[in-house]
Amino acid sequence: MATYPFTPYKNWVIDPIPNVSLREAERQLKLAHYNPFNVPARKVVVDFMTDSGTGALSKKQLSRMVAGDESYAGSVSGERLYERLEDFTGRQTIILTHQGRGAEKIIAETFLQKDDVVLSNTLFDTTRANFEHRGAHCVDLPWHPASLWNTKINDIIRDPEDPFSGHLFKGDVALDQLAFELARYGDRVKLVVLTLTNNSGGGQPASLKNIVAAARIVKEHSRALLMIDACRIVENAYFIQRYELKGRVSIAGIVRKICAYADLISMSAKKDGLAHMGGCIATSSTAPWVGTMNALSILYEGLNIRGKGGYGGISGKDMEIIAQGLCEVVDLRYLRHRAGQVRYLHERLTEIGIPLISPLGGHAVYVDAAAFLPHIPAKEFPGHALVVELYRQGGVRSVEIGSLMFGKNAQRELVRLAIPRRVYEQSHFDYVVEALAKINERKERLRGFQITEGAGDPMPHFFCKLKPL
Ligand code: F0G
Repeated sequence: MATYPFTPYKNWVIDPIPNVSLREAERQLKLAHYNPFNVPARKVVVDFMTDSGTGALSKKQLSRMVAGDESYAGSVSGERLYERLEDFTGRQTIILTHQGRGAEKIIAETFLQKDDVVLSNTLFDTTRANFEHRGAHCVDLPWHPASLWNTKINDIIRDPEDPFSGHLFKGDVALDQLAFELARYGDRVKLVVLTLTNNSGGGQPASLKNIVAAARIVKEHSRALLMIDACRIVENAYFIQRYELKGRVSIAGIVRKICAYADLISMSAKKDGLAHMGGCIATSSTAPWVGTMNALSILYEGLNIRGKGGYGGISGKDMEIIAQGLCEVVDLRYLRHRAGQVRYLHERLTEIGIPLISPLGGHAVYVDAAAFLPHIPAKEFPGHALVVELYRQGGVRSVEIGSLMFGKNAQRELVRLAIPRRVYEQSHFDYVVEALAKINERKERLRGFQITEGAGDPMPHFFCKLKPL
């Protein structure tokens, strides 16, 4: 029996949840052209679409917010955030951005040109889109058990006899493939990106051992730079501390240790920053690219004075929220509760027979939609069919990570149930489990979808219109 973790905080502020009847959900779906990005949030009962910028603030964050200094140059809140980020990453140069993709755009423009190559454990959709926008060729090299390279990852995970299915760090980059692709593309490879945790690949962590080995391979066999996408680096560090280092190093210490291997760190503060806005690039003060990045940040984001002061598109209030959030996120009681929530949802869904990506990651539960709806082929978007049905059945919003999001680059057909930080409680998780249990009873009746408008657009999943088949 799954047990819900003890919640180490109480709620002083609440937001009522609307009732959404089946009929109303159907009406909303039609109005939204079956794209949940078009559904108004006031018509959502439980919003598991994303854990990005959707968390609750602490009393301390709110009180710091009031102290936000909105000065254009030399803001006290800016000083505080630069200092906190220097300490968090162990890097002396910080370039603030309005959110993660602001950092991605600056990195893309600084390093990438047409036909350059980027290798990664798996790039997030905006990261890939920013890099491809520069004409770069992006290759995902997610973890795989080397001996089973030709087997589809979903098949491996579904097989309970498979000795690798218990591998805890499925966010690892495939090291043999990394070495192979570095040799194949040579100097065309400009960046190797480790996304921690591996959001689009199932939300799983990478091990410290893998990060160290990947950094060594990159340094020894290429002139590429190692970039860490640190959106959920603290959640990743929690897994490393618990399962790899067995508690010997603090969470903050592990984060700094990981960052020390990277030439570049990009981060969206909307995840492990426990904030609603913000992001940054962290790098070494002697890096030759700092000047270019600073200039670009002023063009696109906001003032960053020699990587040491400014605001980078973030309000003083938000800078205070992030600085405080980065202190709260490394608290073990918080992290245990967060991981416990993910585990609870994962265990309860496993109990009722929903096929999931296992073992679990740090911020979401991923339903294996290809296994859940085997009668719907990838080209008819099985993940999207489940996303739509979850909304119809219970007003639950989730997101497809599969052929709709990534087109021909899709590695799997997944539905992500992303858990906002410090927002939902046990009854909400139970509600989502019940909705999925109802769907499970009649899943053979679900049908696929077809895009009716916007199929050729970049990142069509955000804008496209669809119709049920
Ligand atoms: N990298 C990763 C791994 C992400 O998950 C995200 C955002 C970004 C970069 C971009 O950051 O949103 O601040 O611009 N992920 C959100 C999600 C949107 O739902 O997973 P951003």
